[in-house]
Amino acid sequence: MDLQPLEIPSQLGMARERGVYISTYGCQMNVNDTERMLSLLEMANFVPVGTPEEATLIIINSCSVREKPVHKVHSEVGRYKRMKAKNPDLRIGVTGCVAQQEKERLMLDVPLIDFVVGTDMIDELPQVVDRLYGGQKKVVSARFEHQKPYHIQTLVRNPKVTAFVNITKGCDNFCTFCVVPFTRGRERSRPLAHLLDDVNALVAKGVKEVTLLGQNVNSYQSDCGADFARALRSIADQTEITRIRYTTSHPKDFNEDLIHTLRDYRHKITEYVHLPFQSGNSQILERMNRGYTREEYIKKAKMILEQIPNVALSTDIIVGFPGETEEQFQDTLTLLDEIPYENIFAFAYSPRPFTKAAKFEDQLADEVKNQRLNRLIDHHKPISFALAKRLEGQVTEVLVEEHHANIGRLAGRSPQNKMVHFHGGPEWVGQVVKVKVLEAFPLTLRGELLQ
Ligand code: SAH
Ligand code: SF4
Ligand code: F3S
Repeated sequence: MDLQPLEIPSQLGMARERGVYISTYGCQMNVNDTERMLSLLEMANFVPVGTPEEATLIIINSCSVREKPVHKVHSEVGRYKRMKAKNPDLRIGVTGCVAQQEKERLMLDVPLIDFVVGTDMIDELPQVVDRLYGGQKKVVSARFEHQKPYHIQTLVRNPKVTAFVNITKGCDNFCTFCVVPFTRGRERSRPLAHLLDDVNALVAKGVKEVTLLGQNVNSYQSDCGADFARALRSIADQTEITRIRYTTSHPKDFNEDLIHTLRDYRHKITEYVHLPFQSGNSQILERMNRGYTREEYIKKAKMILEQIPNVALSTDIIVGFPGETEEQFQDTLTLLDEIPYENIFAFAYSPRPFTKAAKFEDQLADEVKNQRLNRLIDHHKPISFALAKRLEGQVTEVLVEEHHANIGRLAGRSPQNKMVHFHGGPEWVGQVVKVKVLEAFPLTLRGELLQ
């Protein structure tokens, strides 16, 4: 692999062990970044601790996709005020999307913060921490590395049954509501050869399932010319991984070749597609700059449902986008009747810095947005329960992820991404087993082991 060796500062390497606590907000990408930061800090002689009270280094890995997670960062830092007054060695930093968005401004607003590390500078974290413990008062590292190719190696500390693998970073879609292109920078793909090396290395460490991560995995483009469908086929054919998941798919780039790949490789690739539609109205979709109409979306979703037997769909929806009329909102409700989603992630529109939609003049009142959100959730509830009920009595293949010794139960996921709970011993962890579904809910299934 053509990778830069990671430089761990000598001062940290020799220091006695210190506790690091990271709290993580936002998407799987942030969860994976937290894992990377902990791996890097462990190499620099830090030990992860379970509570902020035990830590000498506290990191808040932040999300800024909506207003609420941003407030959470401020209130979390506030909770550490007393600890910081008592412990002069304590350093507090913010990483992730709020860090990237606010940079040094964050430290001016919240003086308790000692350092800010942006989304593209994670590998600099040991150096940043080294400078802080070397006496520097405040450190900001929040550049984007647009010029450098995206060459990293997946780092996992204690490999489990499942692992995340970044395949792209950034996003170039600029949906008008979304802050991510500003907080994660331009889209770059990792070379396919690196992905194969990564997955092989994870398999050698006992990992059975990888989730390929990107803001829009469908626009993945390797330097060797492979697109996402080809990358999926290569990983399925050339590695011993048991199961492959991926997220998130963008409807505009979801093509027939990919649908055929998902159909032909469904023994290895999960039979689950998360396909955000955001709005069921074509005018709103255009104002969102999503790149598809209601009709085009429905056509693709139906093609997926027809071609991939047993596929489960989920989606993201925004209600109360600027200017959304009651009729346009109705189009979102009726889309839920046309396409059967096992699960929906619905949000009230939240204006975000730098985005076009935040400047639109026809913003809706919070009451309207919240009322539509509740109506949408109420509309979908019976649909998701009815879809789940169909599974009762069926047999599903579960990749067992965990054994809960205290209750003697196993937990794992079905190919349709439902969490399945059933009795069994620890020897099944990491294996694919047949489970009969006894009781089904929208997100979880209760079953019995058939082996
Ligand atoms: N890359 C993914 C989504 C990342 S953000 C995709 O394109 O599908 C996750 C979800 O948050 C989005 O799908 C959207 O539904 C929601 N979201 C993003 N910006 C938002 C905003 N300003 N207000 C409300 N919800 C938002
Ligand atoms: Fe945001 Fe759109 Fe990019 Fe998804 S595709 S991250 S919603 S800009
Ligand atoms: Fe949030 Fe950044 Fe992910 S804004 S959703 S943590 S890409």
